[in-house]
Amino acid sequence: MRILDQTKLPAEIDFIEATTTERVWEAIRALRVRGAPAIGIAAAMGVAQAAGQAVERGASSEGVLAALASAADTLSTSRPTAVNLFWALDRMRRVGRENASLSAAALAERLVREAQAIRDEDAAMCRAIGEHGATLLKDGAVVLTHCNAGGLATAEFGTALAPVYVAAEQGKRVSVYADETRPLLQGARLTAWELMHAGVEVTLICDNMAAQVMKEGRVDVVFVGADRIAANGDAANKIGTYGVALLARAHQIPFYVLAPTSTFDARTPTGDGITIEQRAAEEITEGFGRRTAPVGVKVYSPAFDVTPAPLISGIICEKGIFPAAEAVTAVN
Ligand code: MRU
Repeated sequence: MRILDQTKLPAEIDFIEATTTERVWEAIRALRVRGAPAIGIAAAMGVAQAAGQAVERGASSEGVLAALASAADTLSTSRPTAVNLFWALDRMRRVGRENASLSAAALAERLVREAQAIRDEDAAMCRAIGEHGATLLKDGAVVLTHCNAGGLATAEFGTALAPVYVAAEQGKRVSVYADETRPLLQGARLTAWELMHAGVEVTLICDNMAAQVMKEGRVDVVFVGADRIAANGDAANKIGTYGVALLARAHQIPFYVLAPTSTFDARTPTGDGITIEQRAAEEITEGFGRRTAPVGVKVYSPAFDVTPAPLISGIICEKGIFPAAEAVTAVN
């Protein structure tokens, strides 16, 4: 596997050779590949790669299944919040079980095809999300987004940014305010970078500027992605999203969550059941190589928060636009 190392963007376009499960695990853990759908795709490909390598070592079908199980178990510990990771791994495990009677080589090939299908389906879902979302964007619309839920986070178009790309294809002039997204700056490093490359007008703001920008009447709609949407419509996304939702409500600006159904988690009744990843203190105290806090300071660093469904104007998935509380049950 070759993975674009997103931690080096925007300064450098560099790919890593993730030729072992441990390297794929590290790439996910360190956010070299990140964004819920992209994490799921990378994990599925990691499993397929492990299966292929077992065949190269001369493994039997049982050996391929054992390699699949071991890779899936390892990768499932990389990050806890994005449900797409577990969804993709479960799908690979199921395909392994259902094809256990194939020869080792045929089984490994089947697993590669499944990982590619997960990627291709994600690309199609993102485009559909874009088409539904673009119906909400008039010519001249201004979108505010948080973190990166664009092409870098998915197989192709992104989720929150997909309507922006579709609207641009339709000839509408749409522009974006990108929250910087402390502490790892996905908005500054990734969203601003990919929108500029696509020729979409983007304005970068620090997270703490969003209230003022909204108060000045500069934002028509907020579009964000999600890492997991609970059955009642509560949506986990990058830390800071909940604050943006509160600000949008205070300024009567519609706030939409955009995600493929692979991000829906019908088994988790409410957002309270979503595990929130905790990140290392250094990402706050010396992010990007410069110490900006006293040595030894106590740090709390949740990577995600949960926006309650009542603050969400609608959830946009590949099947359409739904009231938040109904989306997960409507598609199941
Ligand atoms: O920690 P990250 O960069 O993986 O967090 C990503 C987000 O929160 C995205 O908004 C979410 O995964 C949706 S990506 C289409």
